[in-house]
Amino acid sequence: MILLDGKKTALAIRQKLKKEITQYQHKGHRAPGLAVILVGDDPASHIYVRNKEQACAEVGIVSRSYRLDSSTPQDELENLIKSLNDDPEIDGILLQLPLPAGFHTQRCLDLISPSKDVDGFHPDNVGRLALNLPGLRSCTPAGVMSLLKQYNLSVRGKKAVVIGCSNIVGKPLSLLLLNAEATVTVCHAATYDLKAEVIQGDFVFVAIGQPKFISADMIKEGAVVVDIGINRTENGIVGDCDFEALTSKVKAITPVPGGVGPMTIAQLLLNTVSAYKIQLGI
Ligand code: GUN
Repeated sequence: MILLDGKKTALAIRQKLKKEITQYQHKGHRAPGLAVILVGDDPASHIYVRNKEQACAEVGIVSRSYRLDSSTPQDELENLIKSLNDDPEIDGILLQLPLPAGFHTQRCLDLISPSKDVDGFHPDNVGRLALNLPGLRSCTPAGVMSLLKQYNLSVRGKKAVVIGCSNIVGKPLSLLLLNAEATVTVCHAATYDLKAEVIQGDFVFVAIGQPKFISADMIKEGAVVVDIGINRTENGIVGDCDFEALTSKVKAITPVPGGVGPMTIAQLLLNTVSAYKIQLGI
């Protein structure tokens, strides 16, 4: 059984990026800049944002944080995004989701300049993904693909089952898998017989946010399982899969924590440097 170690893989990515950024600065360029906007007081979002800021500092990306009260008017948030679009020292804009109730999320995402959209959530970038054209890709799905690549696990010609079809993870991941020539099945809350679909997967990707939902009887012997869930329980953080039960059955699996989570943040750093290079024309 192969443990897909996202922590180790992400560390290697950060080390490589740090060198690359140092080289740009030696050539006289400014440091890459990421603006992070966090609205409200969702505790999980505060932890994610802190981790993102820390990772930026580690590789030499300047992160500028905007922590806004949940009573902030929509207009004010929109004006902040517009000013960051025009800010020459900012390469990437990250609006942490979910926004508190009452905000119009899509209107904000639509406003982010596609060239600074390091989350890959703007309709232009989603469209480019659907068309398999170059563009900024959503961090978690792209991080998953690079983790598989690191372990030489190719999905080409394989049956890939994605459980969950959110705009942040399931949908863009399904498109990346399709672009990589997998045969893709996307399952969601209305799927008639989930087990019948999942058991066929050579690769199974789970992003539903339900602790230990996927049991060993649902998984084909020798499958590769990627657990994208992060669930805080009284026994600590667990994924969407029953990890212990699955280890004896699978070819490879991601741990939670230490699997997909660190890859998401590494991809954000990669996307910020991509946006920086576009911004500076280097
Ligand atoms: N909330 C949960 N995941 C993400 C993500 O990847 N990006 C942003 N901006 N918000 C999130």
